[in-house]
Amino acid sequence: MRIIGWIAALAAAATLIACAGAGSEQTGKQPAIAPAALAPAPKTLTISDASFGCIRDLKPVRGFFVGNLLGDVDATLAAANAGGAKPYPPGSVVQLVPTEVMVKHPAGYNAATNDWEFFELDVQPGVNKIRVRGSTEVVNQFGGNCLTCHARAEAKWDMICEQDHGCLPIPIPAVMQRAIQNTDPRCAKMELPADQAEALQQLAARRAAAAAAAAKPAATTSN
Ligand code: HEC
Repeated sequence: MRIIGWIAALAAAATLIACAGAGSEQTGKQPAIAPAALAPAPKTLTISDASFGCIRDLKPVRGFFVGNLLGDVDATLAAANAGGAKPYPPGSVVQLVPTEVMVKHPAGYNAATNDWEFFELDVQPGVNKIRVRGSTEVVNQFGGNCLTCHARAEAKWDMICEQDHGCLPIPIPAVMQRAIQNTDPRCAKMELPADQAEALQQLAARRAAAAAAAAKPAATTSN
């Protein structure tokens, strides 16, 4: 995974999402049994730009953050802390960096992604927008397909990579991840510890080098 550039501060509020999910009434000749406790599972999840906000308003788990757009953050935290014993429940939001998000839909969204939808956000001062979203086809702006990487996680981890679930590592050390989270332009500004400030400088240098390499004309080939 790669990180897109963002710079200063922007406040944006995370908004909970309404869901539709009424089951149809059954009124035929039924034996007189007490109706089962109705806990209607939501059938759809509506996700918009307003679904996302300051990454640090989510709950921290081992270096990444989780939330739940259906209000059941406890179930999401339980899954995140279950050591692979529980899949993430519908509504789960998972983020490592401000610009990339995974959201778990109710069952039936897409079996190929375990019902995860992938998002790349455009997060800049004054901007908090979904840039790309979808299931199998979402490619980040650096050409990496989210699913291709995340599907390498062992099945029990429900496509969550962390550092040791079987995905290829990404070249962003933990201190750089913290620095990126702590400079989410949608959050209140905070003082960065020295090691994180240094990590941000390394990241800026990396980006500059990558931009310079990309600007060079491709080498010509001859035969
Ligand atoms: C090159 C492979 C690769 C690509 C492409 C990639 N990721 Fe990841 N992603 C990872 C790895 C590895 C981690 C764990 C890094 C860590 O914890 O140090 C991760 C972490 C995450 C996390 C935190 C939860 C977790 O799995 O640990 C989310 C959410 C996430 N990525 C979303 C996305 C989205 C959305 C996209 C596409 C827009 C994407 N990723 C593209 C490899 C990738």
